[in-house]
Amino acid sequence: MKKHSKRLPEGLRFGPLFDEAEVEMVSEVVRSGRLTQFSSSLVTEFEDAFAAYVEAPAAIAVNSGTAALHTALAAAGIGLGDEVIVPAFTFIGTVGPILQQQAVPVFTDIDPQTFCISVEDAARKITPKTKAILAVDMFGHPADLDPLRELAAEHSLVLIEDACQAHGAKYKGARVGNLADLTCFSFYESKNMTTGEGGMITTGNERLAQLCRMIRHQGEENWGIIKRLGFNYRMPALQAALGVVQIKKLDKFNEMRRERAAIYTKALSDLDLQLPGENPDVWSVFHVYSFLLPRRLAERRDEIVQHLREERVPVGVAYPRPLYASPVFAHLEGPFECPVTEDVCSRVITLPTLQSIPVEIAETIGEITRDVISEYME
Ligand SMILES: Cc1ncc(COP(=O)(O)O)c(C=O)c1O
Repeated sequence: MKKHSKRLPEGLRFGPLFDEAEVEMVSEVVRSGRLTQFSSSLVTEFEDAFAAYVEAPAAIAVNSGTAALHTALAAAGIGLGDEVIVPAFTFIGTVGPILQQQAVPVFTDIDPQTFCISVEDAARKITPKTKAILAVDMFGHPADLDPLRELAAEHSLVLIEDACQAHGAKYKGARVGNLADLTCFSFYESKNMTTGEGGMITTGNERLAQLCRMIRHQGEENWGIIKRLGFNYRMPALQAALGVVQIKKLDKFNEMRRERAAIYTKALSDLDLQLPGENPDVWSVFHVYSFLLPRRLAERRDEIVQHLREERVPVGVAYPRPLYASPVFAHLEGPFECPVTEDVCSRVITLPTLQSIPVEIAETIGEITRDVISEYME
């Protein structure tokens, strides 16, 4: 193995960026003994701040992004046998809730540049059983929401947006959050803003907002009146305490993610790679930095990733295979016909853009990544 001029420190691990403000807020909650949505006002405070930030009339806090998606699907009336158009290139948290509702995910291909759902393939896969389109803002880049909204309207479908990686991302000047019928966010530890675990649904539809509130709390309409089957997806006050502080820092965090992405682009731009970009009408928040090797190196991708890890580069693969290749979807009948997804899965490599990564470390990650990949280009 060639040695590189720079070395990354051993055992690199990057988490969220907190300061005394989060510590004080959380301590206050602990001291108060008011730990829940019902006993503390912090959950409502966080919902109001988040709704204002994304300019949506309503925000409903829950305890994960997956819970947000499940609640949104249930509120949209997705149930037994309903088909939901969803990209094959995403995290299981997008699609698991469709199965939880006993509905059918219809795996759809992606755009080769943005890795978001292909509107053309979505249109092709609509059937009389289709009830919703669930689009994902992949790696922080919003899906092409205008044509998706048109398609949904034309076929009377609900449009749900999985913005779990895209807090603060903009589409045609507007932040995602009120551009679909329901938009879902995650506040998992690695997200652009975090509450440890947590989620949020935003919507401009008051009826759907009321349903989401009911579903997150046991399906209860009024004390003792259980209107429908719901869940306990409530966000704890400790999480909301982190959220009210983190939302104020989100713009800064997104700029920091973009700065780290720009560092990687600068380091890798001379190589024959497909680097992530932005559509002209989009402001991506680069939740991670996923790039593609040339096709001739697809078979060596795992070897290259291993090599990068040996050089201590905190590298990942998002995502290594189309979701339909997982056993949990074995009951679905193929062929799934997602050639772009298959191609992207075979040659994608992912670098972290976390705001806690110091700029000098990001530069070293970029340089070592370039040096390692160059060896395979020769
Ligand atoms: C695209 C996408 N959808 C859904 C989820 C699920 O969110 P959570 O992990 O908060 O349940 C995540 C994040 O992990 C995600 O990245």
